[in-house]
Amino acid sequence: MKNRGQLTRGPLGTVLVIIPTYNEAENIEPIVSRVRSAVPEAHILVADDNSPDGTGKLADELADADDHVHVLHRKGKEGLGAAYLAGFRWGLDNGYGVLVEMDADGSHRPEELPRLLEALPEADLVLGSRWVPGGSVVNWPKSREFLSRGGSLYSRLLLGVPLRDVTGGYRAFRRETLEGIGLDKVASQGYCFQVDLAWRTVQAGYDVREVPITFVERERGNSKMSRSIVAEALLRVTVWGVSERLAGLKRRK
Ligand code: GDD
Ligand code: MN
Repeated sequence: MKNRGQLTRGPLGTVLVIIPTYNEAENIEPIVSRVRSAVPEAHILVADDNSPDGTGKLADELADADDHVHVLHRKGKEGLGAAYLAGFRWGLDNGYGVLVEMDADGSHRPEELPRLLEALPEADLVLGSRWVPGGSVVNWPKSREFLSRGGSLYSRLLLGVPLRDVTGGYRAFRRETLEGIGLDKVASQGYCFQVDLAWRTVQAGYDVREVPITFVERERGNSKMSRSIVAEALLRVTVWGVSERLAGLKRRK
């Protein structure tokens, strides 16, 4: 049987790399210029949550100088999930064919993007994966590695998603995939947005491929990971998993 994606997959269109930012003033110019050199035909959308350090203004200057660079200014800090949802909507409205998620801090190396994109003709979503053979992390504290591996394992067991790196944020979606999973129902605010979207994509019957990446911990600025982000992820994944099981029991009755 063909999977859902094989039925709807069109030719790949123009690539939009969405970069969410909150206080990334030292990182924004380097990441934009690395993406521009690594994949010159791609466009970039910086989705800034009105960063107090002026990241949005720096992004505007880059956009003024380069017609491949765009900026989405948001009111205030509403979380990674909300920033990506707004970015996806902007990209879909403007006709892009491939929507890429990438952190601003250099952890997701733009030089590896061509490899992610090469896998997309055969897939509906490509995940840059730290936890498949060939993937790795550089300079990450053991505590973060434990959290990430643990989060992926918990999600895999509870939700049954057959993926090694469900929490990662380096991804390439076909536009048909985002249209098909229904973004209006996504409520995740923080980093569990990543688990949410991966799970929806698998459940909707799309083909998800993992490509190994080297995740390099940031050298400048600070992580926005917090206790409340971990708490939201744990709570939501548990609720999704339990509801799924209850629904399964009901179906069997
Ligand atoms: N617009 C906006 N709003 N951007 C945000 C927000 C927000 O509320 N919170 C974080 N970001 C941006 C950061 O500026 C950065 O570009 C990117 O999102 C990732 O944030 P980091 O704070 O650097 O994340 P991390 O390195 O701790 O987390 C990594 O692991 C997570 C869990 O595995 C990344 O790989 C994440 O993508 C991943 O989900
Ligand atoms: Mn980071």
